[in-house]
Amino acid sequence: MRINKKILKDLSDYIKNTYKIDASDASSLIELQQYIDTKLLSKYFSATEDDGTYWKNQLAWNTRRTGQELLEKLYKLDPSSILDVGCGDNEWKQYFGDKLLGIDPYNKNADTLIGIMDLTHGYGTWDVIMCLGSINFGDELTIKLQTERAVKLCKPGGKLFFRLNPGITHDTEHAQWIDFFPWSEELIYNYAKEFGCEVNEISWDQTDQRIVRWGNRLYSEWTKL
Ligand SMILES: C[S@@+](CC[C@H](N)C(=O)[O-])C[C@H]1O[C@@H](n2cnc3c(N)ncnc32)[C@H](O)[C@@H]1O
Repeated sequence: MRINKKILKDLSDYIKNTYKIDASDASSLIELQQYIDTKLLSKYFSATEDDGTYWKNQLAWNTRRTGQELLEKLYKLDPSSILDVGCGDNEWKQYFGDKLLGIDPYNKNADTLIGIMDLTHGYGTWDVIMCLGSINFGDELTIKLQTERAVKLCKPGGKLFFRLNPGITHDTEHAQWIDFFPWSEELIYNYAKEFGCEVNEISWDQTDQRIVRWGNRLYSEWTKL
């Protein structure tokens, strides 16, 4: 069960103030907060309403590690299969065509409309796994299980590329209740070690500080041992 601490606190505060009941541990409340969390994630990340409120990639391509630089890195690696986890508008498809599968639970531009935990086959088969801004939502257990799943899907010797949010809430209306997980360098090293990966690199994603809108992100590159 994914816990969104922002929603859970708000609901239990409301119930306490209104009914004078402490419901913070009630399982139905926990289910309700997950229902709301999923609806809000869907609202924020679905490409169904193009009214400017759903999330769109606005990060400058030429000055971030997960833009042009990653594209060139991937061309050099020349992988035969790439899994783009949380592909959003599936923008990497134009470069790799059928070699790339974009999955996303909310964005209809994905090749397959599923979340990472619903991809239960193809373990150890992908040359490259990209998780660019997609393993960022929810509590620590959720994040840990999603990271573990990404590693499981990668083949030994394969590469994983991450763009990770250090816990910054986007400054848009629909992002207010999204529970952005606070990634740190320490956690990146711990998870990589625990899941049998070598960390090749950790740095900031955006190299030009002047054009960071929602604060910078952590970039990391792993090899599965
Ligand atoms: C910040 S956007 C990044 C989109 C894209 N990777 C990019 O860099 O432009 C985060 C994406 O992760 C997706 N996402 C959220 N939860 C996910 C999950 N459990 N599994 C896979 N993708 C997820 C969202 O739907 C959204 O498209």
